[in-house]
Amino acid sequence: MKIAIIGYSGINATTWTQAFLQQHWTVRTLARKPQPTGDTADQEYVFFDLEQPDSYRPALRGVDVLALVTPADPRQYEWETALIDAAKAEGLRRIVKLSVIGSDLDKPVSAFARGAAKADAYLMQSKVPYVILRANIYMQNVFRQTAGIWKGVYSEPTQGAAVSLLDVKDIADCAIAVAGGGYDNEIFFLTGPAALNGDQMASALSAAMGIPIRFVSPDLGDYRTSLEAGGWPAWRIESLVELYTNIQAGYNQHLPVVTRAVQDLTGHPPRSFEAFVREHFSLLGQYPLFVFALGSEAAGEFDHVDSLIMGIGKVNAAYHLTKRITQNRPGLIINLGSAGSSRFRRGEVVCITRFVQRDMDVRGLGFKQYETPFMPFGTTLEYGLKLLGLPEGTCGTGDNFETAHATEAYNVVDMEAFALAQVAWEEQIPFLCLKYISDGADGQAAEDWEVMVHHAAAAFKEIVGKW
Ligand SMILES: NC(=O)c1ccc[n+]([C@@H]2O[C@H](COP(=O)([O-])OP(=O)(O)OC[C@H]3O[C@@H](n4cnc5c(N)ncnc54)[C@H](OP(=O)(O)O)[C@@H]3O)[C@@H](O)[C@H]2O)c1
Repeated sequence: MKIAIIGYSGINATTWTQAFLQQHWTVRTLARKPQPTGDTADQEYVFFDLEQPDSYRPALRGVDVLALVTPADPRQYEWETALIDAAKAEGLRRIVKLSVIGSDLDKPVSAFARGAAKADAYLMQSKVPYVILRANIYMQNVFRQTAGIWKGVYSEPTQGAAVSLLDVKDIADCAIAVAGGGYDNEIFFLTGPAALNGDQMASALSAAMGIPIRFVSPDLGDYRTSLEAGGWPAWRIESLVELYTNIQAGYNQHLPVVTRAVQDLTGHPPRSFEAFVREHFSLLGQYPLFVFALGSEAAGEFDHVDSLIMGIGKVNAAYHLTKRITQNRPGLIINLGSAGSSRFRRGEVVCITRFVQRDMDVRGLGFKQYETPFMPFGTTLEYGLKLLGLPEGTCGTGDNFETAHATEAYNVVDMEAFALAQVAWEEQIPFLCLKYISDGADGQAAEDWEVMVHHAAAAFKEIVGKW
């Protein structure tokens, strides 16, 4: 059997294509751009553009099933009805149409659902066999918030409303279950396994990532401003603001409903949000680069991860990290290293979230001690991720081995972390900095460091092993 899927980079297009290929279907990808990879035995690319109706019938000729998934757009109804007509004219066996939960309500709460209701009605009277999958909000929408999540905030203007979010993989599995027949002219309401509100979603993210994440439901005016700043088209901004206005007004009773449809169609329960965030947001899932000053700090415990030995001091740190980022940009930078402290115990692992360049001193020109002239962060760069369960510290970095610590401005000392933090901040790559306290930054520091440094790798390995 051959199924036509619109696009290749869309969330559903990617997931459905993989899923159908795995189930030994032939996939015809309806592509508006030429494909560098070319056809394979199981997948062919055919030109198709939603904005060129002449391309519809040739693109559908010879396929059995159309996966009718089109992008949200003011022209969506026009596109979908024309595609249904084309599929009918080409004699397709059936259409599997993605629709939206709540499109069955008397008064759908968004333009998305109103449009879907009209297109569903058109398909139902078209006499083409169909299956309609009315899906709840995707878990994958959380990806749009990745940058904010790494800063510790999950933001959505849902107030206390709960939603039984759904993994798009489950929609694809349901599509496979119905595409071969046996469910024609049926409608299914697809949901995840549980309804979660924003606080519960933030907790799940926090548990998966090990960093504190809090939920914020922004004011709708602020939300609109943020969409405008993000350059979203006006119709989409209006549609989203209308949706959240209705959700906040209590027109949200359909969103927490949990159905059995995924289980019944696929034989497996829908994937949980907890499993979804573990898969996509765990620290080790972010292509992390582990950065050490010396091989002895890694001590052979991190041979199987992407690692960088940068050498000693700020120049080495900045040079080697920047070079690596330009060659192969990591999703997360993790600096593991030893450090001195008169505040924390020897053997303790401290999570550094604030960085001070302790040998920066331009007071002679009127700047504050530790202030890098003309940089927006002043004396202290706040950038590191906070790992739950570890004490939090401020690291003073300088190109000397501090043996007489006597300031409140920082409570851990090293020779590289500030440079790494600044490079990560400039590049907007999440940064986690863990320091193993190897000495007291006092007169004994050099002796202690040599004895203690080999313990660091084992301590880090234990922490990383829990991720
Ligand atoms: N977000 C939710 O929570 C949610 C929930 C339920 C239902 N839905 C529904 O899901 C649908 C959107 O699915 P999605 O999120 O998978 O969409 P998406 O990620 O935005 O992908 C859109 C796909 O459409 C293709 N495309 C765009 N313009 C095209 C054109 N002119 N000609 C040919 N192809 C074109 C793109 O092709 P390229 O690969 O070439 O870019 C892309 O593959 C909407 O109908 C929405 O209402 C969404």
